[in-house]
Order: sequence, then structure tokens, then C-alpha cells
Amino acid sequence: MNDRAALPATLEQSAFWMPFTANRQFRKAPRLLARAEGMYYWTPEGRKVLDGTAGLWCVNAGHCRPKIVEAISRQAATLDFAPTFQMAHPLAFDFAQRLKRLAPPGLSHVFFTNSGSESVDTALKIALAYHRARGEGQRFRLIGRERGYHGVNFGGTSVGGIVGNRKSFGPGVAGVDHLRHTHDPARNAFSRGLPQHGAELADDLERLAALHDPSSIAAVIVEPVAASTGVLLPPRGYLERLRAICDRHGILLIFDEVITGFGRLGKPFASGYFDVVPDLFTTAKGLTNGTIPMGAVFASDKVFDAFMQGPEGAIELAHGYTYSGHPMACAAGIAALDTYEEEGLLTRAGELAGYWDQAAHALRGAPHVVDIRSIGLVAGIELEPRPGAPGARAYEAFVKAFEAGALIRVTGDIIALSPPLIIQKDEIDRLFGIVGQALASIA
Ligand SMILES: Cc1ncc(COP(=O)(O)O)c(C=O)c1O
Repeated sequence: MNDRAALPATLEQSAFWMPFTANRQFRKAPRLLARAEGMYYWTPEGRKVLDGTAGLWCVNAGHCRPKIVEAISRQAATLDFAPTFQMAHPLAFDFAQRLKRLAPPGLSHVFFTNSGSESVDTALKIALAYHRARGEGQRFRLIGRERGYHGVNFGGTSVGGIVGNRKSFGPGVAGVDHLRHTHDPARNAFSRGLPQHGAELADDLERLAALHDPSSIAAVIVEPVAASTGVLLPPRGYLERLRAICDRHGILLIFDEVITGFGRLGKPFASGYFDVVPDLFTTAKGLTNGTIPMGAVFASDKVFDAFMQGPEGAIELAHGYTYSGHPMACAAGIAALDTYEEEGLLTRAGELAGYWDQAAHALRGAPHVVDIRSIGLVAGIELEPRPGAPGARAYEAFVKAFEAGALIRVTGDIIALSPPLIIQKDEIDRLFGIVGQALASIA
């Protein structure tokens, strides 16, 4: 069954150019969501769908949570908008202060954006401007990693490492290079916990430092767990090694925590999970429980202090967005933090991780499965691509799962699962059960 019946006749011709979507294929067999609550979506015709992806990795406390709904509507009627350029409103200060309490010590400055992509570009620009402010303006190079996803703005596209997201958009930002990715199924397939092999891949940064000269490199950006490319976990010791090399050469380390932030791994942030502290880290998504678009970049005291020099009347960072610190987003974010904290959601993934991991790995041996990776409340199930049709097998599994009542996500031939952190054990069973059935039903 699909939900085509519920479409207005005009949808097929609608002006909506859908993002990251096969628009023509979608219009022939659309999948629509009309309502949501807690762990579930409902289609326009009333079919209930278990949310196995927290929307798009963002609805960490589940859908339509009353406290957040109420905060947004109250704020909309109280102060709908206020500028934050040479002006401000109290909620932006309150929210930043609340966030600082969750961050690793020393990362106590918060710059607001409106999305993960903007957070990434903001962090990269802060890194460049930081070095310039310290008299090291020759550090212009930015290093990303193969298979990294850092959003779709020019900075994030440039440091990102997913070929399909880069190939159509020209040369991008100058002076970018990439570390090798860490995916090594030959040595690490079906690992339980972090992969044993691959810490030495961090030494790729030494290779790039030798190639370009370390004094030209401003920053390295990586996702602590590379999610959008298909859930690639860092090999044991890899992030520590990257941190050490950055320190050796005066390079800033940026973690992109747009997905790992706000409890996904069982800690507020992945830096706490891995015990590796970056100089800057990016967030979005779970920041407001996905309700109002917002992102935030956390900066270390060292970085922030480098800007707070010179004449007091000078604007220290010529950067910001009309909607940086939007009052409704701040209200939503504060209510999201209240909900996370009251319900213990920032650590709940840690409590469920064992059960989740067991359920994920029970799919070992299911048709087409060549690797399974899990951490916190995230799982990647990698399928063998169908010869000559990469991605087709996972896409069919995604459609079958939706028809059977679960929203899952696929990237290439990898299924990625990341439910709201309120998921119950019986729902974990149902989610993996539906995935198993979907895999069994496709060729
Ligand atoms: C690690 C990471 N960075 C950045 C982004 C971009 O976020 P947005 O889509 O809000 O711009 C994403 C989105 O999935 C992401 O996973």
C-alpha cells in the first residue's frame, strides 16, 4: 500500500522541488507523513509508522513533546523575532548558558546558526579567522575526510568526502584536502564495539602535514562517528591519535557533532563518549529536538579569547545570520534540554546500547547483509550491492519497511537506524523485525 490516495490531485505537478530526492520517482509513488507523536508518524490516511530514524537524526526526544510545543507557541506570541546584531534578547543568553553546562570543560562559548551546514561553515570560518587573529594567517588549509558529511554549503561540501555530493558543484573552497576514510570491512566487519583495526589511519594527517607543511593547515574536521555515509565507527585509538597530531602541529580539531550531539551515543556529546576534546564542535538537529531550525558552534576558551583583543568597539568576528539565536529556536531549545534532562535522555542510549547492539547483530546472516555496526542508539547494516545497480537493494528495503510500518534510512547500500531516544525494547524488536522481513522480501 502507498499513500498516493491521500495526495491532492495537484501534488504531482506541485512546485515543491524536493531535496536529496528522486523527484520524478517520488511523484509516482509518494510517501507522506501527516502527523506525529512520540515514537510514531501517521500517514495522511491514518497508517501508523514507527520512527526508526528520529525524523532525520534529529527528533531525539520523540515527536510533538508537550513542553516544546508549549514553549514554541508561547514564544511566538511573546517575542517573535529580535535581532542579535548589536542587540539581543535574554533567551539567547540563557540558552547558551544552559548549553555550556553540557559541553566539555573549556568549550564555553556558543555561536548560533540555523542548521548543521551553517554550523560547519561557521566553524571553518572561525578556525581561519582564529589563526589570522593570532598572526598566523598563512594557515588557510582545511582538512576533511573521505566519506565525511558536513552538510551542503560550500565549506561543508568542500571538506565533505561523499563523491555524489561534490561532483556537480565545481572546485569548491580552495586549499582543502582529505584524510583517508576509516571503513575497513576486510579487517573489521561485524565488530562488536569500536573496530580494532585502523588507529594508524590517523597518521594520514602527518602525511598531509608533510605534503603541505603543517604551518599552512588551519583545521581538521571529522565526524566522531561518520553517520550519513553509513555509520562508520572510529577505530579504537583513532580520535586520540588525531588529537595528538593536531596538537603537535598547532592545527585546530573540529568535531562535527550534528548527529552525535544530544545523547545519541549515551552522553551529551561524542567528545564525552570518546574522551577526546576538540577545539570547536558543531551541532544542530537535536539542539531543538528538530522542531525549529537551529545550529550551534561550541568554541574553546582558547579560540574565543584570541578574538577578544584590540579595540573594544570593533566587531571581533564579521559573521552571523539574521536568525542566529532566533527567539523561537531558543525557546524550543531550552524546552528540549528540559525534556532531555527530566527524562534522562542524554544518557538513555547508553542504558539501551547493549540491547540495541544485540538486536542489530541478530541480523547477521540475514539476506544480503555484509556488515553490521552499532554504537549508542545508532546502527548501520551494510548490504551487498546488487550487481550493476548500486543502492537499489537498500532503497527497496526502505520502501518495504515503510509499507510494513517503519521509517528507516538508507544511504547507498547501507541501512542506517537512529530512533528517538525514548524508544522501548519492544519497539527495538519491532524495528529490527521489520528490517529483517524487508531484507528477506527483496532480491
Ligand atoms: C555530521 C553532519 N554535519 C552537517 C549536517 C548538515 O546539517 P543540515 O542538514 O542541518 O544542514 C549533517 C546532516 O545530516 C550531518 O550529519
